[in-house]
Amino acid sequence: MTAPVRFALAGFGAWGRYHATAIQTNPDALLAAVAAPSPASRAAAAEAYPEARIFSDPMEMIQSIDCDVVDIVTPSHTHRTLAETALASGRFVLLEKPMATTLDDCAAIVRAAEGAGGRLAIGHELRLSSQWGEIHRIIASGMIGHPQYVLVELSRKPYRLGADGWRYDPARVGSWVLEEPIHFFDLARWYLAGSGEPVELVAYGNSHDPARPTLYDNFSALFRCADGAYAVVSQTLAAFEHHQTVKVSGTRGAVWAGWSGALDRTTEPTSFLRVFDGERLVDEHLPRASGEVFELHEEIAACVRCVRHGAAPIATARDGLWSAGLCILAEESIRRGEPINVAAVIDRQAGGKRS
Ligand SMILES: NC(=O)c1ccc[n+]([C@@H]2O[C@H](COP(=O)([O-])OP(=O)(O)OC[C@H]3O[C@@H](n4cnc5c(N)ncnc54)[C@H](OP(=O)(O)O)[C@@H]3O)[C@@H](O)[C@H]2O)c1
Repeated sequence: MTAPVRFALAGFGAWGRYHATAIQTNPDALLAAVAAPSPASRAAAAEAYPEARIFSDPMEMIQSIDCDVVDIVTPSHTHRTLAETALASGRFVLLEKPMATTLDDCAAIVRAAEGAGGRLAIGHELRLSSQWGEIHRIIASGMIGHPQYVLVELSRKPYRLGADGWRYDPARVGSWVLEEPIHFFDLARWYLAGSGEPVELVAYGNSHDPARPTLYDNFSALFRCADGAYAVVSQTLAAFEHHQTVKVSGTRGAVWAGWSGALDRTTEPTSFLRVFDGERLVDEHLPRASGEVFELHEEIAACVRCVRHGAAPIATARDGLWSAGLCILAEESIRRGEPINVAAVIDRQAGGKRS
């Protein structure tokens, strides 16, 4: 029997606990270690996973544990140091989005990942969704022709605080665009891959709380590719529940999909996917439920395939640089009140190479 792929998990907070469950319920994976700084989280990890070694310091865990994968699910400002250390140790790295909170940190992780043979996956699990991933397959099949317009829109309740309130601290979260709209930039760029990379971006945002003017409750951005195809990414955190919409129009047909739940992590969402190929309108049946909790299980399984069979990561370091880069440059567009030439900035960060 093949030995299970051994995961060392850095972070046992709200999302890290979902990672732990997804690892432990995968028959080909094993949770070998968990690191969390607070005694409360360490006690919870020890109780839930008595076989795992528990650490207070993720760096010490990386240095001392026998594992195949380092899974990084800590506050975003810690990602660069942990990712560089884990890559240097020779392990495969699953790094939660955002890759990092600054362009320089993202570029450093790209260099480290490429120096380590590309053994890093970014946690853009929406690509593995039976719904958002299916849209990519529909586009690739040519059913709607060449995509020219993408809308990814979310209306939801405010974000969770995070351990020690890091998610409401610009120095640690980077920005709120790096929290959820980053997934939408990744999807839109993925759907528009046939049009080349984004070249220009403009964004708007506002906050209803004068104490945090740069953490935007409402955010919208538009990027265009060189051939004129463009995407709109839009989010409001000043709403209720969790309701996401994707629309894609091509030269022949169009797609419209929606997902609704009381919470982002509900396991009983309502969802639909309607496809118009220019002649017929079809309501697609989703083969399995869509939602980030389900996609996380797919992400862990994909990571196992990377380690065992050298499969390509669901999203590479360069994908991570692009998704984080679009978010960071959207913030700059809001600050400057003008469009940004994103191609020039991200190409420079990527060392002049196209993905
Ligand atoms: N892909 C997705 O859909 C998705 C969804 C949610 C979150 N995320 C990402 O996942 C990451 C974690 O988010 P979360 O919601 O799980 O946050 P969280 O609930 O605040 O958990 C953070 C974890 O990291 C630990 N931690 C705090 N400061 C640390 C430090 N300086 N060094 C090492 N560990 C530290 C915390 O320790 P204690 O528990 O001991 O306090 C906690 O275990 C973020 O980057 C977030 O953007 C991705």
